[in-house]
Amino acid sequence: MTTRNQQLFEQAKTVIPGGVNSPVRAFGSVGGVPRFIRRAEGAHVWDEDGVQYIDYVGSWGPAIVGHAHPEVVEAVRAAALDGLSFGAPTAAEVAIAEEIVKLMPSVEQVRLVSSGTEATMSAIRLARGFTGRDTIIKFEGCYHGHSDSLLVKAGSGLLTFGNPSSAGVPADFSKHTLVLPFNDTAALTETFARIGDRIACVILEPIAGNMNMVQPDAEFVRQLRALTQQHGSVLIYDEVMTGFRVALGGAQSLHGITPDLTTMGKVIGGGMPLAAFGGRKDIMACISPLGGVYQAGTLSGNPVAVAAGLKTLEIIQRPGFYEQLSQHTRLLCAGLEAAAQQAGITFSSQSLGGMFGLYFAERVPASYADMLASHTDQFKRFFHGMLKRQVAFGPSAFEACFVSAAHTEAHIQATVDAAATVFAEMAQG
Ligand SMILES: Cc1ncc(COP(=O)(O)O)c(C=O)c1O
Repeated sequence: MTTRNQQLFEQAKTVIPGGVNSPVRAFGSVGGVPRFIRRAEGAHVWDEDGVQYIDYVGSWGPAIVGHAHPEVVEAVRAAALDGLSFGAPTAAEVAIAEEIVKLMPSVEQVRLVSSGTEATMSAIRLARGFTGRDTIIKFEGCYHGHSDSLLVKAGSGLLTFGNPSSAGVPADFSKHTLVLPFNDTAALTETFARIGDRIACVILEPIAGNMNMVQPDAEFVRQLRALTQQHGSVLIYDEVMTGFRVALGGAQSLHGITPDLTTMGKVIGGGMPLAAFGGRKDIMACISPLGGVYQAGTLSGNPVAVAAGLKTLEIIQRPGFYEQLSQHTRLLCAGLEAAAQQAGITFSSQSLGGMFGLYFAERVPASYADMLASHTDQFKRFFHGMLKRQVAFGPSAFEACFVSAAHTEAHIQATVDAAATVFAEMAQG
């Protein structure tokens, strides 16, 4: 029997390329039919066939307080009644900017945009405008949205500039982007020694989530901060995923690092299209209308999105929020590890705040190369086994997953019980 999900996927493919509006949703790396989601509430999503899932995708990060949190929905409703968009400044934008500046001390001024891609693209233009330099550095396995300068993969050698990782990106753009191995302090040091004074900025996912969750070591980030400072390069912490997710103050609060610029998204919009970039006042002063670096947006600081963001930021500051979130996420990872061990499956995991990574590998990866060496084929079996048992993880071995405040110990136990069955099946071959 054809399910409604199958039917919709076929129908979608006739009018939407690949049937989806963002590639990972197509289930390309795990195979099978994507679930078309009809509604979401708390820790659950329901698909078009009416099947309920415990959801660890959380809209890829924004849903930290749980889906359709009643207070967020009410804030959105109230804002919508006052008008959907004005194209003029509002009091709520000032309030959310003040909130962000309070929560992230490295951010002295902030500009709102509508997506993480816009935030990183703008931060890079700003860093180039501020320094008057063209060259930027990014790291292998880190994703910063889909702007041209950032869709770049490593060249053939350490100091060879990158190649486009997407058709349609001119080589003339990618030649300004150097891609270095993540967490490789020696490569970073060597590069700065050779061309440090030409580097406009370094952009880092401070806790990577787009090659699954991978953490840098303390020495790497310490050296990165020291070298960028020494050479007058702008350090951009891309906290689109980690901001307000791994901790209230983001990854920078855990690293004890003060970046020059920070990009944010996901959680700050509470599920609505809102993102931001901000940082040092002297750098932010280069943005128009004050400075010569152009940046603008019809829907920037949209009042409905800002209302969702402000309410979300209020909820996450309530006492005990991160303690409970972290504890539940750790409980989930520990339960999954125990279940895998019981079944004799090679497996590891890690978490910070409400972000976690699962790996079919003996140890948690420390680089993109480590991640490539893990058993991603095992992930496919795990993913489909869990989906069949109504638990949804991100449909790729290269994605981090997320717990929300709506996930209870009962949800976690149900997940671990389902995983025990799936691991046992996998062990049988
Ligand atoms: C670290 C990071 N930066 C930037 C982006 C791009 O954000 P958006 O999808 O809102 O354009 C993402 C999206 O996943 C991300 O994880």
